[in-house]
Amino acid sequence: MSLPRTIEWLGDLNGHVRLIDQTLLPGRLAFVDCSTVEQIWEAIKVLRVRGAPAIGIAGAMGLVLAIRQLSPLEAEAGFFAELERQRDYLASCRPTAVNLRWALDRLVRAAREHRGLGVLPLQLLLWEEARKIRDEDAAACRAIGEHGAHLIPDGGGVLTHCNAGSLATAELGTALALMYVAHERGRRFQVFADETRPLLQGARLTAWELQQAGIAVTVICDNMAATVMKRGQVQCVVTGADRIAANGDTANKIGTYGVALLARAHRIPFYVAAPVSTFDLNCPSGEQIPIEERAADEVRQIGDRIITPAEATVYNPAFDVTPAEFITAFISERGVFPASEIRQRFH
Ligand code: MRU
Repeated sequence: MSLPRTIEWLGDLNGHVRLIDQTLLPGRLAFVDCSTVEQIWEAIKVLRVRGAPAIGIAGAMGLVLAIRQLSPLEAEAGFFAELERQRDYLASCRPTAVNLRWALDRLVRAAREHRGLGVLPLQLLLWEEARKIRDEDAAACRAIGEHGAHLIPDGGGVLTHCNAGSLATAELGTALALMYVAHERGRRFQVFADETRPLLQGARLTAWELQQAGIAVTVICDNMAATVMKRGQVQCVVTGADRIAANGDTANKIGTYGVALLARAHRIPFYVAAPVSTFDLNCPSGEQIPIEERAADEVRQIGDRIITPAEATVYNPAFDVTPAEFITAFISERGVFPASEIRQRFH
């Protein structure tokens, strides 16, 4: 599978971040170059870059863009004050995916552990750390795929919601990693991609990247999932996650909870694939996960076309929480395990 990198740092510390502009897909594959933290903030906010692991990487690289502005002659106290201010600014962008805050905190912690080094060495250290986060995510996705590929039914169907693929991560994806590795191993299967209203990540992005890889994909409207399950066309469901609480309750794209309920009603296993950076053990249950609400126009419109009466009142939560009891197992780079084993896996 050789899709272009979703996000990468080009050049040295004075270089820039290049990302695929996902708002233009599938019509056009184009890149945006970001040289300032404000450009990264905007790219995350409007979903040019999206998906929990990818926004973690973008946040980390954005923080490097912010602090590389500081003069090497700046006092360290000023450096740390600015680092924390920019960390909070970036974290404010999207609240649900824990990967963003996780990556930003990792950079701040790395800097604190090297207090006294001086501003330029700290800038270089954080630049290294941000690129390491990207590389580690690529490795985690590969491991998730290897651990979970056997769950993809040979000769059967798998349903996924939103996009938890290469576009949502450094490479390969989480839910889609299982499918990419199963495909590499010669399994033949059919993917059903929920379109995923309001922003159509399934129809626009999952269908696009699976097609690029030569994997059979059928797009369905969100309200068709029950029918394909009832007809026996789906043997398992795999989704990604934005935050997994300690008890296994899982926030993911709005609509995931409904799919999990349908899977339970049809006795179909429901799997969640996510890297360790998506597990939030400080969050006891789904009750504490902050759910992002997005602009009303995302529901009032499809693309530029208005589909409701002007000013219709709408509700637009970007994520929902699937209770742990509906999740058959999690697949992370640490293996395949049920919700009851989360605490021991992360000890
Ligand atoms: O709003 P988005 O497109 O960022 O939402 C993405 C999802 O919900 C994904 O399923 C999740 O981030 C996992 S990506 C590996």
